[in-house]
Amino acid sequence: MKQRIAIIGHGTVGKALYAQLQNLPNIEVVKVAVKHPAKHRELSRNILTDDVNSILDRVDIQVILEAIDDTDAAFAYAKKTLSEGKTYITASKKMVAASISALHEMEARFGGRLLYEAAVGGAIPVLRTLREHLAGEEIIRIRGIVNGTCNYILTRMGEDDLPFAKALAEAQQRGFAESDPTSDIDGWDSYYKSIILARAAFGDKPEISKVKWHGIREVGLADVHAAAKVNEKIKLVADIKHTNQRVSIDIRPTLLGSADPLYHIDRELNGIIIEGRYAGQLLLQGSGAGGNATASAMVGDLYNAPKAPQSIVRKLLLSVN
Ligand SMILES: NC(=O)c1ccc[n+]([C@@H]2O[C@H](COP(=O)([O-])OP(=O)(O)OC[C@H]3O[C@@H](n4cnc5c(N)ncnc54)[C@H](OP(=O)(O)O)[C@@H]3O)[C@@H](O)[C@H]2O)c1
Repeated sequence: MKQRIAIIGHGTVGKALYAQLQNLPNIEVVKVAVKHPAKHRELSRNILTDDVNSILDRVDIQVILEAIDDTDAAFAYAKKTLSEGKTYITASKKMVAASISALHEMEARFGGRLLYEAAVGGAIPVLRTLREHLAGEEIIRIRGIVNGTCNYILTRMGEDDLPFAKALAEAQQRGFAESDPTSDIDGWDSYYKSIILARAAFGDKPEISKVKWHGIREVGLADVHAAAKVNEKIKLVADIKHTNQRVSIDIRPTLLGSADPLYHIDRELNGIIIEGRYAGQLLLQGSGAGGNATASAMVGDLYNAPKAPQSIVRKLLLSVN
């Protein structure tokens, strides 16, 4: 029998997700919820809805995949899904970063699952690597380029002498930057991802003692040229360290020499170095954003979520007691 699922959002990520799921024989997308159905005439009326709650109330849909740009709504949908012991798979990094503890508490209380690999590093399986492959490892530090938009802008400034504004316009034209790129270029996006990484690496409620962040707005062509003269590059690097039981997060434009593995991560790529006490340094790199890369991580979460419909199991257990 096919697994019946629903998607909330049919934008850059949602569309790619819908297309990828059409290729999977054991999955049936029963509903797609959006805000403005009139924009989405390519979807059949049976599938399309703007009534998210009607989807969340359905017992036959135990897994919801969400990629929307409304943080408050995403939080409300996540809470409702988890409170019914169902599985919620999301790409909404801001929502996850803001509410990560509350959502995991609901997960533990009601037996649902919350998965958000897509929220950090696009297709790069960094959260699962931390939680599963490095489960027993003592993580010391995570350092990475986690924002593809900034990396694209800085790379293009260096490659073709493009001023910041032109490089940004090019990133927007090529679909790497949103029409409002503030969250990317001012470092907020890297901050949300750092919070999520810190939790995956350093425990459920890491004590974050110091947070500093700067975006790339102030970086000019003269800075990029000066770096190139000494064979260095400027990149927006997030540095998350664990020392003396405390976690610090420092995000800033950083000068990197060619011996640094992050020096070679260019354009829209992301690169994340995980440093473990015994494992040493591991570098994960790949496509950090974009519809297909992000949707790929969500499909991975779908396959890694427990197959048993949690709420039905819970209801059975309750009826036995
Ligand atoms: N784009 C990326 O590369 C990327 C990468 C990683 C994570 N993300 C995250 O993924 C999420 C989606 O990003 P996106 O780029 O796909 O955004 P997008 O292209 O702007 O699409 C947003 C979608 O959300 C729908 N929507 C908004 N509010 C809604 C609500 N209250 N209920 C139901 N649907 C609602 C919109 O419906 P209408 O179409 O009807 O307006 C639209 O289909 C964001 O949280 C983003 O941070 C994106």
